Amino acid sequence: MSAPKTASRDAFASTLGAFAATVGSAIGLGNIWKFPYLTGSNGGAAFVLTYLLAVALVGIPVMAVEHVIGRRMRLDAVRAYGRVVPGQRFWAAIGWAGLASALLIMAFYTDVAGWVFAYVFKSAGAFVSGRPLTPETFGALASGTWEPIAWQAVVLVVTTAIIAAGVSQGIEKVTKTLMPLLFGLLLVCDLRALTLPGAFAGVSYLFSPDPSKITASVLLSALGLAFFKLSLGMGTMTTYGSYMPDQTRIVPNATRVALADTLVSLLAGLAIFPAVFAFGGTPAGGPGLLFNTIPLVFARMPLGGLFTALFFVLAAIATIGAMVSLMEVPVAFFVEKGHVRRPAAAAITGGTMFALGLLATLSQGPVLADVKLFGKTFFDLFDFLSSNVLLPVGGLAIAIVGGWLVSRSAFVEELNKGHSAASWYDRTFYAFIRFVAPGLILLILLSSLGVIRLS
Ligand code: TRP
Repeated sequence: MSAPKTASRDAFASTLGAFAATVGSAIGLGNIWKFPYLTGSNGGAAFVLTYLLAVALVGIPVMAVEHVIGRRMRLDAVRAYGRVVPGQRFWAAIGWAGLASALLIMAFYTDVAGWVFAYVFKSAGAFVSGRPLTPETFGALASGTWEPIAWQAVVLVVTTAIIAAGVSQGIEKVTKTLMPLLFGLLLVCDLRALTLPGAFAGVSYLFSPDPSKITASVLLSALGLAFFKLSLGMGTMTTYGSYMPDQTRIVPNATRVALADTLVSLLAGLAIFPAVFAFGGTPAGGPGLLFNTIPLVFARMPLGGLFTALFFVLAAIATIGAMVSLMEVPVAFFVEKGHVRRPAAAAITGGTMFALGLLATLSQGPVLADVKLFGKTFFDLFDFLSSNVLLPVGGLAIAIVGGWLVSRSAFVEELNKGHSAASWYDRTFYAFIRFVAPGLILLILLSSLGVIRLS
């Protein structure tokens, strides 16, 4: 592994900038929509516990490997993996698979982002008219035909325009200022939800695990969520590593990112589940959980309608930040490798995402609900394939490249740039990269294929 000399590349100006950008990619719909929804559909605390372990034992090590390889190579993901092991160009496949993951993720992500955008307007309308949002509001939106497609188109046009103009720096700044606001609003939401009568059932649903609920499919979903949440396994974090300054300490940075991201997910869970139990709802409410619960929580507060609208505005902004980081992967590839001009690359990518997205969106309503592949609708299939197959397999390959194929001395040197770590700490962390992370990924993948039985 050697560092090629490159002409002036984009870069994060400081360690704080690198941290903020990484957190900006990580925090998104994954925290407020996917984490609560998967927790509710997978039985609660057992899933949360497995998820936390997956973040600590697999997520942080894989993020560190991506940052090490990115910063060492200072190249886009396809070229970085193609060149990091001398004579083994086929590892570029990690970058190629990453492109496929980005398209699949965006296909359903923009559907959900469309719901968020729609809810900005619906909740503002509800506040003005005084007629509250109900589960029927969400049902009609998600299973509609033209309405969700129109919102998805709006989301894609906004994201494509930002990418085409190359103003992702600007959006980063907006996200950075508004993220603390989202955090604050989540805290308000938590306070309200936790003081509802009967709220404690929701807290214990989140935090008192029943180990018998940990099945192979719970393990795979928790692992997949860890990858999805931390934007791992497809080259995003490798690219971000390539912009990282030399003085950034990779392991502490990755740990802080994982902690901040997990905190936001837990705050979202603490806003949603106590309310679900207090109002007698069902935790396994599926993808609509966020949209049906948050308006109910705020409805019990003075100016609740206004808070609901504000909540969805902030959620929309966090979502744009994550979408920009997803769309940038294929766009950068078209620009750097295909020599396509940036606006054209953005238009091609946005168009492809829209076409795939139509399948996901229409599969929630009468048009395509009955079309199933491997027993799943397109929406579920895209989600399953990306989070539970492509990202973990990508992460396994990344851990193998970093832990086994790159020379240990070069790897550890890059890992510890900017400080001299105690050697026991080095050894321990490297062991996680070599054995623990790939071992666990492999075990979980094999158990979900039924090759081995873990329980
Ligand atoms: N992590 C983001 C979220 O939780 C989604 C995301 C952005 C992502 N970039 C990614 C997921 C790259 C996987 C890979 O909402």
